[in-house]
Amino acid sequence: MSKTMRVGVLTGGGDAPGLNPAIKGLVYRGSELGLEIFGLFDGWRSLLNPLPDVLPLNRETVRRWDRDGGTNLGSSRTNPFKQLAEDGEVRDRSEEVLKNIARLKLDAIVVCGGEDTLGVAARLAQRGVRVVGVPKTIDKDLAGTDYTLGFDTALRNVSEVIERSRTPAGSHGWVQIIEVMGRHAGHLALWSGVAGQAHIVLIPEHPFRYERVFHLLKDRLGEPGLSRGPLQRPRYAVIVVAEGARAEDGEMITIDNSHDAFGHARLGGIGDVLARRIAGETPYESRAVTLGHPQRGGAPSAIDRIMGLMFGARAAEAVAENEFGKMVSARGIAPACELSLVDISAVSGRIKTVDVNRYYDVERYHLKELGM
Ligand code: F6P
Repeated sequence: MSKTMRVGVLTGGGDAPGLNPAIKGLVYRGSELGLEIFGLFDGWRSLLNPLPDVLPLNRETVRRWDRDGGTNLGSSRTNPFKQLAEDGEVRDRSEEVLKNIARLKLDAIVVCGGEDTLGVAARLAQRGVRVVGVPKTIDKDLAGTDYTLGFDTALRNVSEVIERSRTPAGSHGWVQIIEVMGRHAGHLALWSGVAGQAHIVLIPEHPFRYERVFHLLKDRLGEPGLSRGPLQRPRYAVIVVAEGARAEDGEMITIDNSHDAFGHARLGGIGDVLARRIAGETPYESRAVTLGHPQRGGAPSAIDRIMGLMFGARAAEAVAENEFGKMVSARGIAPACELSLVDISAVSGRIKTVDVNRYYDVERYHLKELGM
């Protein structure tokens, strides 16, 4: 029998439900294929520690992990190629990562992450590190795969809030705005808007016009003050706005001026801006809520459990088959799903956003052909 392979696994970037099932899938299938799995803590940060801690993972350790949200290995947005040193200089510390991989005698690393974390994996692969990627992000914006872990649970979480926001909005006659994550991609906003039956959905891929939003509201709500029995005209509207959405004549709105190690600004605030404009320029009252990190929270949905287990198991097979520099990719979503491996270098450096021509009605600001 061939020698056992020592495999590290890490989770990087924003946490997402589905990561723990993926680790369980990796460990379970890996145990059949002669892989010894070691958990690395807090994403790439683990491999910058002078003495990295590892957590040996076996079937007993991960038996219950399929039910857990987040990541039991911890996560961080660490970019070893761009590390801010104490003197304020930015340094490339990737050499330390290579040394630690050798020190820990890891034959391969399974990297669960989005475009940034997998981008690091792709660059390390060019330097000879044997990596296999597992796609994860609630934004669903990774190229090369139909599914990324976390999306379905986030969709569930956001849809539930949309649903719950209808009662106060309906009772008080508000325009309720719900700001949803997704960075530069509108997948989460658009599909949760459909699932939760929001009335207007604004996405980053198509800059909106305030006048058009006001017009759509008027179309639905009519003139306030006219007799509107609860069973006649609707008294409220729900707008889902992606954090990366912007008006035609406006900028993307950020929380502050900070940037993470991959150069991303923290988006947020468009919901409040929109609420103020509606309150100031239309006769309607408006409220905004920014959903923030709880969108990524909670136990994984059934789809994220299934996809996670399948992705993890396929990653174990890729390692056992010496298929490195690849990411596990899904065509379709379970149960109608086929897995394959794609080149990890083809995934980094670009994101997959909503195909506006195919899906987005640029007049009604909603999913096309739904009659909304
Ligand atoms: O990429 C996942 C995501 O949740 C984005 O939707 C969001 O813009 C970003 O992470 C938030 O970043 P952080 O978790 O660092 O606040």
